[in-house]
Amino acid sequence: MIREFYKDRTILLTGATGFLGKGIAAKLLRDLPEVRRIYTLVRPGKQDDGSPISVAQRLQEELFDNSVFYRFKAREPERYAQVKEKIVPFAGDLTQPGLGIDQPLLQQLCDEVDLIVSSGATVDFDAPLDASIILNSLGPQELLGFARQCHKEVIFLHISTAYTYGKLTGYLAEEPLPLDRTIRQMMSPTPPETPFDPEAEIAACQEYCTHLRQRAVSAEMEEVFRSETLQESTRELTETRLEKLIDGRRKRWLERALVEEGMRRAKDYGWNDVYTFTKAMGEQMLVKHHGDIPLVIVRPSVIESSLADPEPGWISGLKVTDPLVVAYGRGQVPDFPARADVPMDLVPADIVVNIVLAAATQAVRQEVRVFHAATSGRNPLMNPIMFRYIRQHFDAHPMLGRDGKAPELTDWTFPSVRKFRTMFNLRYLYPLELRQWLYKYLPESWVPARKKRMLGAIRSRLNRVSYYTDLFSPYTHLDCRFECEKSQALFESLSPQEQDLFNMDVNSIDWAWYYPKIHLPGLRKHVLKEEGGGEPLLQEVAATDG
Ligand SMILES: NC(=O)c1ccc[n+]([C@@H]2O[C@H](COP(=O)([O-])OP(=O)(O)OC[C@H]3O[C@@H](n4cnc5c(N)ncnc54)[C@H](OP(=O)(O)O)[C@@H]3O)[C@@H](O)[C@H]2O)c1
Repeated sequence: MIREFYKDRTILLTGATGFLGKGIAAKLLRDLPEVRRIYTLVRPGKQDDGSPISVAQRLQEELFDNSVFYRFKAREPERYAQVKEKIVPFAGDLTQPGLGIDQPLLQQLCDEVDLIVSSGATVDFDAPLDASIILNSLGPQELLGFARQCHKEVIFLHISTAYTYGKLTGYLAEEPLPLDRTIRQMMSPTPPETPFDPEAEIAACQEYCTHLRQRAVSAEMEEVFRSETLQESTRELTETRLEKLIDGRRKRWLERALVEEGMRRAKDYGWNDVYTFTKAMGEQMLVKHHGDIPLVIVRPSVIESSLADPEPGWISGLKVTDPLVVAYGRGQVPDFPARADVPMDLVPADIVVNIVLAAATQAVRQEVRVFHAATSGRNPLMNPIMFRYIRQHFDAHPMLGRDGKAPELTDWTFPSVRKFRTMFNLRYLYPLELRQWLYKYLPESWVPARKKRMLGAIRSRLNRVSYYTDLFSPYTHLDCRFECEKSQALFESLSPQEQDLFNMDVNSIDWAWYYPKIHLPGLRKHVLKEEGGGEPLLQEVAATDG
């Protein structure tokens, strides 16, 4: 069914330089070679010195040279070289009107494309509000505008996130979100006095961001930035230096104000952060405006290392709890606030890729189909079990410090956020702040500058942990199960051969094997790039894998 569907398809894929996009592109090339062509929209890049990087060069370095292709290249070099040609990059930007595509190319794309896979987005939980809106809420509308110009019957497949359900609890269905409700309104037993209108909300957000930008360059704020800079400065400043410092202060102020406004609105409405808030509005607007175009929405939870494809443990980037897990492995955090009676919804990347590819086959004119790529509904990984695997892994394969010693690891106690914060402040932050305060008043000869710098570095690390706690703890406390009955039924409808090739069965994940033996070694190899990190472990896995 899947192979038949992709025969002679021409796909437009966004986000091919990203984690999921790479996985999709690689799977298409390797296992669906009947596809006709894959156009990839890529932003032109810049080197450190400001010189341009072409989209072809970006794709070569970030996709083809990525480990997502290592096995394919090694096992079938000739076929790889042949099918690689099917990927055609072009310059574009989801935030530009008309996607910033040149006119002659636009015509060609409109003639040929019959499937759009929309994976490009910002996945920063705390991006500035306007940046998140323009990409996550309005970007899909630009793509939809392109879909409307296509000459063939085009299918629009959009990758969203299961967390568009925000703070909702219980079993969450594979259905579109209501178009006129925030999460807070969905949680309320009474109908809202004023229905939510995502378009009006986007306009209000953009207006407020413009106001903040204007305020940042106003005479009033210039005066504030100038006096703060002068107050803080311990020596005389030239006018050029002063201007530079003021400009830096202005940028930081604006960025912070834009981030805070996004977070404030998101939380007021019942989402956890600006990412899920703007992704939810992106979904709502697509559902509202797709018209005749068949719309398929795939909502993954937290995408982690691959189970098997392109190789066990393949991943790029640290996701949600990963930075904290790594900090724990390094002995830098003793605990993390989480509920012990809820699952952490993680899903291997290859399962997501396969659900995306299979879901497109279910598109129906004028209709919207939603599929979850998540595990909590059928095969939940409860927080205490996940932490047991983390501990097991780091006990067996410690992350050695610079002194070659294994850090001492403590047991997790699953404190509440408040308890964690009190313990963290009393044990780490306040003693450090006290030392920093004392050192400020002691003569230089008593406290060398090196020591002060070291304390400064520890303080930044503690601030980071504190920040991650705020950002990620909503996800380790969420008591919900994402239903995945539709994706499971889709998997069960496949022939045995296609089930083998496109595993989407979340019941097949053995967490005790996957988390400590595949995911964590994969993270250490591909993301932390530890020397030899994860390699021996993954070799163990490879020995059992085709
Ligand atoms: N990762 C997860 O755990 C997760 C979970 C649930 C849902 N999702 C969804 O899955 C999709 C892919 O996520 P990911 O993890 O692959 O993210 P990612 O690694 O951060 O990749 C994001 C992609 O979007 C592209 N992009 C960013 N801004 C763009 C712009 N203005 N114009 C065109 N392309 C732009 C990036 O291109 P550049 O290289 O040029 O920046 C990159 O290719 C997203 O829609 C995300 O919401 C992800």
